[in-house]
This record gives sequence, structure tokens and C-alpha cells, in this order.
Amino acid sequence: MSFAGHTFTAPGRVNLIGEHTDYTGGFVLPMAIDFETSAAIEPCSGDQITFLSENFHEEVRYNLADLPSHGRGHWSDYPAGVLWMLRKKGIDVPAFTLRLSGDIPLGSGLSSSASVEVATAMALLHHAGIKLPGEEIATLCRSVENDFVGASSGIMDQFVIVYGRAGHALLLDCRSLQHENLPLPPSVSVVICNSMVKHTVAHGEYGDRNGEVLAGQAVIVRERPGIGSLRDATLGDLDACRALMSPESYHRCRHIITENERVQRARVALQAGDLASFGKLMYEAHDSFRDDFAASCPEIDKLVEIAATLPGCFGARITGGGFGGCTVNLVAADDAESFRHELMRQYKNALGIDAESYISRAADGALARIS
Ligand code: GLA
Repeated sequence: MSFAGHTFTAPGRVNLIGEHTDYTGGFVLPMAIDFETSAAIEPCSGDQITFLSENFHEEVRYNLADLPSHGRGHWSDYPAGVLWMLRKKGIDVPAFTLRLSGDIPLGSGLSSSASVEVATAMALLHHAGIKLPGEEIATLCRSVENDFVGASSGIMDQFVIVYGRAGHALLLDCRSLQHENLPLPPSVSVVICNSMVKHTVAHGEYGDRNGEVLAGQAVIVRERPGIGSLRDATLGDLDACRALMSPESYHRCRHIITENERVQRARVALQAGDLASFGKLMYEAHDSFRDDFAASCPEIDKLVEIAATLPGCFGARITGGGFGGCTVNLVAADDAESFRHELMRQYKNALGIDAESYISRAADGALARIS
């Protein structure tokens, strides 16, 4: 069937460093990647809207007067949530058919859902004849996760998917939303390796970690004058409050406080072209995520352990929400292809799992694709 609509695309993302720091106003350093979601929109007469997914070979229809107000654990929650949030903002979207397709591996921690949200938002805004600033698009898509889907995630994914720049990583202050594009040297490649252990942000462990962090933060904010969020806290503040929080909260907050500091140091290293220091910070971030945050898994740890022994590897760590998904590896560009193959070969030998891996350049975000 031919489709006479406008098409909008939004990338996936990989986070280089700064994990679980976003929802307490901290720092992150992700980049947009080569994989993407396409959202093609076509006007319709009448009151019906249709979401079509080429990946799931399914379509879902709603009457505009009878839209769902919360998710039901289905792929259509993400586009339906965007429509719902636009409506809540007072934006009227006339009837349409939206066709979604994409190549971001699902459940691998590369933000396929945030990418669907942003691509959908771009398409629906165009259809409604409305322009919104990028920050509002990212914030609206985050509220789809928080208020429609029921995931307690932060702003990182949607923000970099909107604002990413080809050839650059993006340093984001998740409290002020100030951001800075940092060039990645051409001599280095980002290798993403999928452990094939499925990860999901919508349920379970991600929410548990989020709860432990917020509980620890609440104690520090209560006890230490002048601290508005974990981002302002030092390890000294945390230690002073240790007896007042659970051991879990103590360790989760320790990860966040040290991770915010690592992101700042990673920024300096990248600006100086010091890839060795950047890579060392990635290894340290992984250790902290595994030991203090308790959100890695044996398969991911194995990938990081193997990567560290391979030629050309500056650094490796888990990326994304945790409990599976992908590792991100910073590798000398000349070694990237052999690194990727050797990593998968040794992983298969060790655990019997066929991993997937990709060399991704830093891609443009959704805004740069339309301007
Ligand atoms: C998921 C969430 C993000 C962020 C990361 C962890 O990707 O959607 O908001 O919390 O996990 O850094």
C-alpha cells in the first residue's frame, strides 16, 4: 500500500557515562546513534486515528473522543501516550494514520521507546500545525513514560534523541537542561555490544533502584541544609546520613554522587582528547554500577571483562537502565572491527550466547533532521 504522508525520524541513544543520575538532577553524557524510528503520518477524514507498527505487524485504532489515558503494556502505549499528553497541553490533533517502523533492537537499552515517542511527537506536531521548542518536546515525551506508561525514568533519553548532533556526544545537566555538544575524535569508535539479556525500564528493577535512590535523597535533603537534590551532595553529606537510611539507599546514592563527579571528569578528558582517562572513568563507572548500584548482571560483566583485555579498547561499561541490555565500548577506530568480532567470539565461548554488536557513529537527533 502506498503512503502519501510526511515521515519523521528519531534515533536511538547510547549513554557513554552518567547512569541513573538523570532523575535526581545530575549529569549525563550520551550520544544519538545510527539506529532510528520512522513515523509517517497521513491525514484521515472522520474521528478515527490508527497506529500501525511494521515491526509488530499490528494496527490499533481509537476514536478521537475515546482515547486511553494510561498504558496497557503494549507497543501502542508510546504513540498513544504522546497523543494523550499533547491533548493535555491543549493541542488538538486531527484524525490521522501513523505508521511506525524502525531498526533499534527492542529491550536492549538503546531507547527504542523514547525514540518512538520523539518520532511520534514530531509527526503529530507537524500534523497539528504546531511548533514546540525541543526542550518541551523532550519533557512531554518523558511525561509519557512517567504519567502514561508508569515508568519512573528521567529526561536523558528523550533529550539526547531530540538534541543529538552527528559526531558529538551531549553533556546534559538534567536539572537546568543546559547542554553542550562535545566532539568525539575521529580516531575513536563507539562499539555497542548487545548481551542479549532483555532489559525493561517500565517494570521491576529499574523502579526499585529509582525508589532506593529517591529515599536516600529525601534523607539527605531533610538533614543537610542547602541541599536540594542528590546532585548537590558530597560523599561527606552521604556518610553523615548513613545511619538514617537503608544500606541499599546508601550504596545507590554513593553510586550517584561518584557518577556525577565521573561525568564531569569525563567531559574534561574528552575536551583534552584524553581517551585513556575517559576510558578509565568508564571502567570505574561500571564497577560502581555493578557494586554500589547492584544493577549489572553476569553476562554484562563478562562482556566488560573481555573488552578490557582486547587491543585498542580504552574503556567499557554497561549502558542504560541496567539488568541486561548493552555494553558501550570506546575503541581505537582502527581496532574496532576486530574488537567487535573478538568480543563476540570470546563471549560465545564463555557463556554460549550469540551477542550482537554494532559500530555506531554519533548521529543527529530529531531536531537536526528537520532543520
Ligand atoms: C533509562 C531511563 C533514563 C535513565 C537511564 C539510566 O534509560 O529511561 O532516564 O535513567 O535508564 O541512566
